[in-house]
Amino acid sequence: MRLRKKWWAKPELEKDHKVLFTPAEYKGKWKEFFGNDHPIHLELGCGRGRFINQLATMNTNINYIALDAHNELLVHVLRKANEAHLKNIKIIPINIENIGGIFAQDEIEKIYINFCNPWPNKRHHKRRLTHPNFLRLYQTFAKHGSEIWFKTDDQLLFTDSLGYFEGAGFNELYRTYDLYQSDFHGNIVTEYEERFCKQGIKIKFSRFKINTYNILADAKK
Ligand SMILES: C[S@@+](CC[C@H](N)C(=O)[O-])C[C@H]1O[C@@H](n2cnc3c(N)ncnc32)[C@H](O)[C@@H]1O
Repeated sequence: MRLRKKWWAKPELEKDHKVLFTPAEYKGKWKEFFGNDHPIHLELGCGRGRFINQLATMNTNINYIALDAHNELLVHVLRKANEAHLKNIKIIPINIENIGGIFAQDEIEKIYINFCNPWPNKRHHKRRLTHPNFLRLYQTFAKHGSEIWFKTDDQLLFTDSLGYFEGAGFNELYRTYDLYQSDFHGNIVTEYEERFCKQGIKIKFSRFKINTYNILADAKK
């Protein structure tokens, strides 16, 4: 995604305690940091944050962490959270390739990935947030049996991702190739989703249970 650089974005983020530029400091201590024992859910590639802010507003007994690589987008996440006076949301500016080392095993209880870049060229598949290399990173901090929810407009990315999830030993709980004609209720529409829907593109959605046994077994070797 090409974004115009906004000189004020980083200083605005740096001023707010919701935004964490050195997140590894909180590894293993996230619940302490939130000040309660509530489960922690992540959104990877949150963009402007409509989805995670809506979730955080609806579920005050869950803590949310929004991650994205672009400060220019994260300022919008922050402004929305502050307008709604949300206490259960934190923001991490990061390239998700570097997410290892930020959370301890079992610290995260749900992961959302919405409309991540499809990277259609085979040479770039490794950059997809659902690629097996990324799944291995997520397995190092997700609680065994917790869920990953994935939405996309892109058929090829969806098909490949179903294979990636199965390959990682995740168990499929739900799949639809047309979310709006499905029996799934309670969908929260993201900024990109709204755009795709207006173009008549069907939204693909799946939920998988995350298996961490292989990672735990590797760690014991
Ligand atoms: C197409 S946008 C979707 C944004 C939002 N989830 C939505 O549905 O409206 C993809 C987002 O993922 C972020 N992203 C993609 N790869 C990333 C990575 N490796 N690390 C951090 N953010 C990433 C981009 O910066 C962008 O905000």
